[in-house]
Amino acid sequence: MHDFRYVGKKLYCEGVAIDSLVRKFGTPLYVYSQRTLTRHFQRLDGALAPVKHLVCFAMKSNSNQSVLRTLANLGSGFDIVSGGELQRVIAAGGDPRKCVFAGVGKSEAEIEFALRRGVYSFNAESEPELQRINRVAARLNKVAPVAVRVNPDVEAHTHAKITTGTYENKFGVTFEQVEGVYARASRLKHLRLRGVQMHIGSQITQVTPFEQAVRKVLPLAERLKARYGIEFFSIGGGLGIVYQPALASGAADWWQRAAARGVLTPERYAQRLVPLLQPLGLRILIEPGRFISGNAGILVARVEYVKRTGQKNFIIVDAAMNDLIRPAFYDAYHEIVPVTRRGGALLSSDVVGPVCESGDYFCKDRPLPKVAEGDCLALLSAGAYGFVMASNYNTRSLAAEVMVHGRQAAVVRERQPVKDIWAGERLAPWLK
Ligand code: LLP
Repeated sequence: MHDFRYVGKKLYCEGVAIDSLVRKFGTPLYVYSQRTLTRHFQRLDGALAPVKHLVCFAMKSNSNQSVLRTLANLGSGFDIVSGGELQRVIAAGGDPRKCVFAGVGKSEAEIEFALRRGVYSFNAESEPELQRINRVAARLNKVAPVAVRVNPDVEAHTHAKITTGTYENKFGVTFEQVEGVYARASRLKHLRLRGVQMHIGSQITQVTPFEQAVRKVLPLAERLKARYGIEFFSIGGGLGIVYQPALASGAADWWQRAAARGVLTPERYAQRLVPLLQPLGLRILIEPGRFISGNAGILVARVEYVKRTGQKNFIIVDAAMNDLIRPAFYDAYHEIVPVTRRGGALLSSDVVGPVCESGDYFCKDRPLPKVAEGDCLALLSAGAYGFVMASNYNTRSLAAEVMVHGRQAAVVRERQPVKDIWAGERLAPWLK
C-alpha cells in the first residue's frame, strides 16, 4: 500500500504532483510519503497489539532524519547496526532506550558509546563479542543488557545475498551452541541476559519461514526465560513487500487484493505468529525495515537520451546505480512509471544510467511507454535500501530527498554539492 497514484495524467505523492517537485528540486530525486510510512508502522503495530511488543524500525533501510523523526513520534524503537546509526537516531529525536544494537563487528568504541547512551539491548552475534561487551561494561562500571542472536538454520527462500538464517552465513550463534553460550555468559558479571534474538533474512514474502523459525526458537526462549529471566524475544525483521506492477500501485483496495493473492500482510503475519508467541509471556520485538519504508519512497529520474541500437531501445536517465544499486546488485525489480502519462503503445526498453558499467541498469527489455528527452520516470518502491546505499561513484553527487505530507513538501536532504565529494581529500605534501 502506498500514496503514489495518478490524478489524471500526473503522478502524485499524497496531494503533491511529482512534476512540481522536479521543477523545484531537480533530479535525481527521492520522494517519501509521510502518510505511507505512518500507515505501515501503525498497521504492523496494530496487528501485534495482542502481545506486549516493540516495533524497532531497521534504520539501515532509510535513515533520513525526517523519516526517523516520523517514526520516533509514533513511538517506534530502532534497530541500529553502528555507532553512527545511534548518533543519527539520537539526533533525530529517537530514544536510545528503545534501540537494539545488532551486527557482527561492534567495535570497542561503539560498545562504549551505546552503553553510555543506555541502549535497550546489544544483540550479540558471537562469544568473543559477549566477552568484549563484558570487558567494556566492567571498565565503565556498568551492566550491559544483552541478547544472543540465534541462527535457527531455516531457509528463508529469498535472494542469496539477503539470506541470514542458515549456517552458510556469518550471522548469529548456531542453535546447537547457543545454550552453552548463555550458560557461560551468565557467569560474566557485567552482563545482564535480557533477551534472545533471531533474524532469518530479508524480503521474505511468505509467513511459513517466519513460523518455522519461531516454532524452532520458542522452546529455547522458554528455557532461557526460566533459567535466566530473559524478558524479550526479538523475531527480527525481513517482512517482504510487493515490487511487481499492478500490486505495487496505490489502489484503495490494495490490502484486500494483496491478501487474496497470498501476499504477506501484517494481519496474516500476526495471525500466524501471535498465537504462538502469546503464551510465552515475553515482550516481543520486531525489526522491520523494508516493510515500513520500502513502498514509502520513489526515485525520480529525467530522460537524457533515447538511443536505438539494432533491436534495443535504451532509455538513458540521469539516475544511476550509484543512486539505487538494487537492480545491479540483487537483480531487483523496481516498477518504472512515467511521471506524466501520455498513453500510446508500449515499447520494449532498457532503462540505464550514465555510469560506466554494463551493470548500470534499472530494467532490461521491459515494455514501457514511449518517452522523449526531458520526460521523467519514477522508480517505485525505492524507499528502502535506496538512498542509504548510494555512493559517489563516477563523482556523482548524492541525490536530494524530499518528504511529502498532504499538500506540503520539504527538502529533507539537499542535493550534495559536487565540491563536497572531494572536500575531505588532501594533496600529499610532496605533490604540492
Ligand atoms: N534485523 C536485522 C538483524 C537485519 O540484518 C536486517 C536487515 C533487518 C532487521 C531488517 O530487514 P528488513 O525488514 O528490511 O528486511 N540491502 C538489501 C537488504 C539487506 C538487509 C540487511 N539486514 C536489499 O536492498 O534488499
